[in-house]
Amino acid sequence: MPVSPPVAFSELAEQMRRQINAALESHIVFSDRCPEELSEACRYSLLGPGKRLRPMLVLLAAETCGLDEAAAMPAACAVEMIHAYSLVHDDLPAMDDDDLRRGRPTCHRAFGEATAILVGDALLTRAFEILATDVRPSEVAMQCSVVLARAAGAEGMVGGQSRDLAVAQAKGGRERKRDAEVLENIHRSKTGAMFAASLQIGGLVAQATEDELAILQSYGEKIGLAFQIADDLLDKLGDETLIGKRVRKDEQHGKLTFPGLLGMEESRRVAEEMIEQACVQIRPFASRATPLETLARYVLERDS
Ligand code: IPE
Ligand code: IPE
Ligand code: MG
Ligand code: MG
Ligand code: MG
Repeated sequence: MPVSPPVAFSELAEQMRRQINAALESHIVFSDRCPEELSEACRYSLLGPGKRLRPMLVLLAAETCGLDEAAAMPAACAVEMIHAYSLVHDDLPAMDDDDLRRGRPTCHRAFGEATAILVGDALLTRAFEILATDVRPSEVAMQCSVVLARAAGAEGMVGGQSRDLAVAQAKGGRERKRDAEVLENIHRSKTGAMFAASLQIGGLVAQATEDELAILQSYGEKIGLAFQIADDLLDKLGDETLIGKRVRKDEQHGKLTFPGLLGMEESRRVAEEMIEQACVQIRPFASRATPLETLARYVLERDS
């Protein structure tokens, strides 16, 4: 697939999504040593109709740095597995207690809570198995593993999720300025870290230069923050049938969100500014940056 194809982004995205889905199918086949119900629940949670934005970012970053898409696909699948696991756990009764995800019952609603916890465990571990077995050279596999582990773990997504829940449970008035800092920190870790890691991993498999990796990191952090602001806005304004998950839940659960703290208009302005800054960051890639630029704009325009 060329880096700057003469097709609309939606077409390119659809094409990539099909290829990513086929690759995910092939990476989530378990032998009969895995109980059938667990295998079915893993496939249900991974292969449901998600946007596949993070694996797309892996592929686009790799292509932007000169690598063919097929070579980046295993790493892209590993990233989507971590994301799918994070959604399964995010929906659990002890976390956001949601019953709808990707237009279907959440994993724990369909298969039970214990199985949903184990689905998360299975997807998380398979992601690292894929990096170790399918990414070459092994030096690059190791670098990707470190980046993914740090972004997904206690200092990244898991830490952000922990803080998100702790803040929602905390009662009593806090100073607004402090809230804004806490909120940005939560969004950067629970969502931004995995976006930045997707870009880094794409760059690493393409054996990008240090300068290219730094650009990708900065672009990823910015669109990641904008993406979570857009998610908060969609919770307020979105259409449940388009989004495929329940809406108007953040306030009900006492979540600290951008629209809750700054209002809709200011939240949108901050997100727009992040997207503009992200697009400026990738200018050194010149025309090769076009798909990443279009994807950045989609982050805010999306309705699902
Ligand atoms: C939802 O992510 C979780 C957040 C970080 C807000 P997505 O909106 O990318 O979910 P899918 O993968 O398309 O279902
Ligand atoms: C979750 O954020 C981010 C993750 C790490 C999964 P949200 O809790 O806002 O995501 P949704 O709205 O349930 O998809
Ligand atoms: Mg959550
Ligand atoms: Mg949630
Ligand atoms: Mg949300």
